[in-house]
Amino acid sequence: MKSTAAFSALVCGAAAILNPRGPDAAGQIRLAYHGHEGMMVSWNTFEHVAAPEVKWGLSKDNLNNTASSDTSVTYPTSSTYNNHVLVSGLKPDTTYYYLPSPLPQGNHEPYTFTTAREAGNAQSYSVAVVIDLGTMGRLGLTDHAGKGVRPENILKPGERNTIDSLGNTKDSWDFILHPGDIAYADYWLKEEIQEFLPNTTIADGYKVYEAILNDFFDEMTVVTESKPTMRATSPTT
Ligand SMILES: *[C@@H]1O[C@H](CO)[C@@H](O)[C@H](O)[C@H]1NC(C)=O
Ligand SMILES: *[C@@H]1O[C@H](CO)[C@@H](O)[C@H](O)[C@H]1NC(C)=O
Ligand SMILES: [Fe+2]
Repeated sequence: MKSTAAFSALVCGAAAILNPRGPDAAGQIRLAYHGHEGMMVSWNTFEHVAAPEVKWGLSKDNLNNTASSDTSVTYPTSSTYNNHVLVSGLKPDTTYYYLPSPLPQGNHEPYTFTTAREAGNAQSYSVAVVIDLGTMGRLGLTDHAGKGVRPENILKPGERNTIDSLGNTKDSWDFILHPGDIAYADYWLKEEIQEFLPNTTIADGYKVYEAILNDFFDEMTVVTESKPTMRATSPTT
């Protein structure tokens, strides 16, 4: 009976990890500058979207413009589709309200973004630069870790992580520059061997990889839904 209990505990743990929807399935909303007159709006859904759409406008109560695309793309082991819509014809250095559709969590209040300043604008600005930014929380950096991880590389209880800090400071900078690495989803096997993540078969490893990646982009939405995030690397490490 003892081994049966241990086995079902392991299976439950793995099932929770493998839940591709992550803790809240925020939709991974993210922005990228497209010159100073455009913004690329991207977000993820669990199903293919024939015509992803972004409603936008200058006021929260008047999203009177619609941009759309036919770009809803995935790859064989992914649990989501990446939707990309370019919002164009914008004024530089201007705040807009926008709402992607459909969102996996349903209706939501409009989000905001601010376009880039015109090239040559000499005013100073601040940018948040992050490198080697991994996943936080249940599948990543937290207050415990697997075997062999040095204690100084583990969060102290209540300690603020880098994504928390980005969220707390976001009113003081314009955009994020993140040249990589991203998420560290490809550490899934190492973390299983270290017994931080429940053991899966190698064949199921891609589900753990996807869960880590989805958590990362969901966690980042606290800043990426309003601050353009300029990245220059592959979406893993
Ligand atoms: C949307 O409303 C703004 C005023 O808030 C107006 O200037 C603009 O022309 C409108 N756009 C469309 C497509 O009707
Ligand atoms: C994980 O499972 C494999 C076989 O399925 C086993 O060989 C290995 O020892 C297990 N690792 C741990 C840390 O339990
Ligand atoms: Fe790295």
